[in-house]
Amino acid sequence: MSLPPGFLDELRNRVPISSVVGRKVTWDMRKSNQAKGDFWAPCPFHQEKSASFHVDDRKGFYYCFGCHAKGDTLKFLQEVENIGFMEAVEMLAREAGMTMPARDPRAAEKADRLGELAEVMEAALRFFRLQLNSGAAAQARDYLQGRGLGEEARASFEIGFAPPARHALWRHLTGAGVAPAKIIEAGLAIAPDDGSAPYDRFRGRIIFPIRDARGRCIAFGGRAMDPNDRAKYLNSPETPLFDKGRSLYNIGAARSAAGKHGPLIVAEGYMDVIALVMAGFKAAVAPLGTAITEDQLRMIWRLSPEPVIALDGDTAGLRAGHRLMDLALPLLSASQSLRFCLLPEKMDPDDVLRTGGAAAMGKLIDGAVPLVQLLWRRETEGQVFDSPERRAALDARLRAALGKIADPGLRGHYAEELRRLQAEFFRPQRPMRGKGGKAGFLRRDLPAHALPATRATLLASGTSGDVAERMREEIILAILLTHPDLQREFMPELDRTVMQSDGAEALRHAMLEEIPAAHYPALAQAEAARILALGHVTIAPPVRQADIALARNCLAEEFAKLLSRRGVAMELREAAEDLTQLADEGLTWRLRQAAESRNRAERSRLSDSADLGEDRDSLSSALQQMIESEVWVKRKK
Ligand code: UTP
Ligand code: MN
Repeated sequence: MSLPPGFLDELRNRVPISSVVGRKVTWDMRKSNQAKGDFWAPCPFHQEKSASFHVDDRKGFYYCFGCHAKGDTLKFLQEVENIGFMEAVEMLAREAGMTMPARDPRAAEKADRLGELAEVMEAALRFFRLQLNSGAAAQARDYLQGRGLGEEARASFEIGFAPPARHALWRHLTGAGVAPAKIIEAGLAIAPDDGSAPYDRFRGRIIFPIRDARGRCIAFGGRAMDPNDRAKYLNSPETPLFDKGRSLYNIGAARSAAGKHGPLIVAEGYMDVIALVMAGFKAAVAPLGTAITEDQLRMIWRLSPEPVIALDGDTAGLRAGHRLMDLALPLLSASQSLRFCLLPEKMDPDDVLRTGGAAAMGKLIDGAVPLVQLLWRRETEGQVFDSPERRAALDARLRAALGKIADPGLRGHYAEELRRLQAEFFRPQRPMRGKGGKAGFLRRDLPAHALPATRATLLASGTSGDVAERMREEIILAILLTHPDLQREFMPELDRTVMQSDGAEALRHAMLEEIPAAHYPALAQAEAARILALGHVTIAPPVRQADIALARNCLAEEFAKLLSRRGVAMELREAAEDLTQLADEGLTWRLRQAAESRNRAERSRLSDSADLGEDRDSLSSALQQMIESEVWVKRKK
């Protein structure tokens, strides 16, 4: 439709933007200057307590200094009402008392067709509503009553009943002059291919009308009362009015309630939404019997930046949560996220409310976990990380998930949180063997976790070794920082080289996640600055010089040394654990092998220019000592 010139300007001028916005926000009257048409409020587009949302009546614009949302009255209406441009124009024109210009014939025709269908749907709805009150529907009313849906719920959700006859609705509508083709197009009757008489789609079912955001009745859901019925629910087919993947049950009411009556809750079924609303959780929606689509997710986010997804407490529910999580990852941003509320085994929100009341549901909603938690649980729950390979596989999975997050800033924060969870997860545990712990469970971070038997050795107390290693780590990170082109190439090594400090770990993960340097999380950024200012780093040739071949060689070498040292440390720890149980004959051999491989790596140093000063001999002799003392301890027993 084309609008005459000046129509929009006239429209904007007639209705001050503050009067439209004012219906959705609460002005901060101390900050606002009403006389000047200058208004401030907490932003309706992101969660905040302060008033950084500015509305200027003279300019007819709004702007949020927090989330940078901006636009004019029409944009505002589109955003908060979840409607298209023309709908916003119509809405504002009604308010301004302006007549909409005549529409172009094709669009008008389409609108008329949809309007007609919507009218047929309304007529059907009136019929279903009346039927529920008829004598023939006593059983249906009993069923609803039994499920806790009394007069009030029936009225507010316009619940109806389709009588168990083949042509009840058909006769009613055709009798009222509705064209048969329209009844079929609206999905209310089914016309068999063989040309025999059309019959009602909904028969002997409780009817839940589905309205779109504008309030039009676009579909019905019909529930069987007999638990043995083939289909528990039968829904309207896709029609010109009904696009299942772009519709949400209860969207209209949820839109006005979101943010005011608690968080937006996304449940799985009609009954859940009704039970939630009746219990006071007014902002509740549900998809229509299918997995949530991207369109639906975007609709949900338009209502609330962080909706709570209530997952049925079964594996299917959890699987649905995981699917939704994968769908959401690339779309996440600071103002678009999800929380997940995990319901008790075999329960949906309706069950929780029936058994535990609003208090129980409220508690579950308050305990909803952020998406990052669900991600972490999926990748770790029920698994054992008793080998470097398994831990590396976990790293890779987490990194793959992180890679899906498009927003670089947010990706950094996710990386940080996952690293924290990982550190917590792999924290030293009680001595593991013989006390019912997981056998062979090794912490993956350093310094070494020593058992009493090895605690006294130089290696385990690990002072001089740690300094040397830390310096080596710093050199590695510095070279990667000054030669970012090499980061990809050394990904596998970097992946295996767990760093000793939180800062270095933050930096390592930022590199692994390929976050652009400008977007490094604070900790990683601080560490990068710290490292690049270190004395031994600033003088190191591979850091100072642009020579990429030199940098590559040095990296290869430093990684090799560090990893082989750690190989030794790990072998030692494993061997020490074995010793406390029962040592085998191969143990001494393993220790020697480990020590030798380390020495080989040390000897193969290309240059000794930056000898980091660890004492190879003292290390070897400590090893030797340890082997002997441990073996001796074993023999004595
Ligand atoms: P549920 O099986 O969880 O049903 O399906 P419910 O909503 O808890 O209903 P009650 O409590 O058993 O009465 C969740 C949603 O999946 C769709 C419906 O939208 C339902 O609300 N569904 C389910 C169907 O479309 N068809 C079915 O046969 C079953
Ligand atoms: Mn249910």
